[in-house]
Amino acid sequence: MFEEGAGCVAVVGVQWGDEGKGKIVDVLAERATIVARYQGGANAGHTVRVEGEEFVLHLIPSGILYPGVRCLMGNGTVVDPWTLLEEMAGLRARGIDLERRLGLSSRAHLVLPYHRMLDRALEASRGVDRIGTTGRGIGPAYRDKVNRTGLRVGDLRDPGRAAEVVRAACSAANDTMERLELDDRVDPEEVLEALEAVRPSFLELATDVGQEIRDGLGEGGRVLLEGAQGSLLDIDHGTYPFVTSSTTTAGGAAAGVGIGPTMIDEVIGVVKAYTTRVGNGPFPTELPGEEAERLRSLGDEFGATTGRPRRPGWFDGVAVNFAAGVNGLTGLAVTKLDVLDSFRELQVAVGYTLEEEPLARFPDSAAELERVRPVYERLPGWEEDTTGARRWDDLPELARGYLERLEQLAGAPIQWVSVGQARRQIIRVGPSRGVPIAG
Ligand code: IMP
Repeated sequence: MFEEGAGCVAVVGVQWGDEGKGKIVDVLAERATIVARYQGGANAGHTVRVEGEEFVLHLIPSGILYPGVRCLMGNGTVVDPWTLLEEMAGLRARGIDLERRLGLSSRAHLVLPYHRMLDRALEASRGVDRIGTTGRGIGPAYRDKVNRTGLRVGDLRDPGRAAEVVRAACSAANDTMERLELDDRVDPEEVLEALEAVRPSFLELATDVGQEIRDGLGEGGRVLLEGAQGSLLDIDHGTYPFVTSSTTTAGGAAAGVGIGPTMIDEVIGVVKAYTTRVGNGPFPTELPGEEAERLRSLGDEFGATTGRPRRPGWFDGVAVNFAAGVNGLTGLAVTKLDVLDSFRELQVAVGYTLEEEPLARFPDSAAELERVRPVYERLPGWEEDTTGARRWDDLPELARGYLERLEQLAGAPIQWVSVGQARRQIIRVGPSRGVPIAG
């Protein structure tokens, strides 16, 4: 961690998103000089609570709430200019100073109105196989990027080129709408006019994020790379096709900001003490009916971006172990432990079976994952309030036992435990447990 001299730390989600990365980044950002997002767009919703006030951030890194931290959005992100400007206006209105604190990679791609239109249309056309996207235009924006038909922030410096790209993309989008027999259309001239209005304020943010981070590290700065979504929503390693469109895992952090992988010193994986998923796709430990309702209401499990109810379930040690490996975790942060305070008994998946046979690996196919059955281990609940705990030793013995089981399954040492929404409701766990690390 930073206090031990590490310069660059990546924070990643190890489940299906909504693990509480915003809270952990917020805690770590206190000592950072730069916080940078490396992928995703306004599909993310990071909730941070500071002195009773709630901030939901979609694009701007959570570090913005600490004065003096420079916040960057890397080339791997996709940015809706209007959403970003609105988020900036919202923060300013609440007294957050953004002057020279925000930068956006000139290589990042823009999310434009036709991407949102296509996202909704393509989802509707998928019928029962729909992914359950956030409808923010993320998939179509990344599709344009990979197809080499996207518009990058830096392209706005040349309005003639931007107009060419937008007109071609609108024409292709309108063709798709016609083929899908849908009525919505997008007018390229309207998009260009709207873009022209935000061009100056947007270009003011443009920077070379990779260079800034490399310079910052060279000067002894401390950099946090903030992931969005979760590892099981990763375009390659997640439960494809029920995934997002970017590399959410730690390998994407270097490429998504423009530094070498050797410059990342630590990778902290964030897991909830149980599991949730929002959107469609396989979820082996999903809870049915009333039990789901109990966990959803205790954990306030509703999407920060879409408000959709999240699907709750028990902690899945198989999925987390797989994701921990893909990320090369050096440490683990467990969030929302307090949500389990009232349970008499807890379950944790320690294996899967497929057609009655034990399965030794995490399936690479969503269809197969849909058919596995979790092998559960039952653990006694602690039935005590943990929200006041500030040290490992303050936690009930049964809660420590539960956490140690999660740690074994994940294969990475617990470094943080979060026991509530407030900044101070956090436990720093040292290697020798009872002894908190200085700082
Ligand atoms: P998209 O990222 O909007 O294309 O949605 C693809 C999948 O990722 C859907 O299942 C979404 O619910 C999920 N997803 C996207 N962003 C988040 C997030 O921040 N938290 C949890 N799930 C997300």
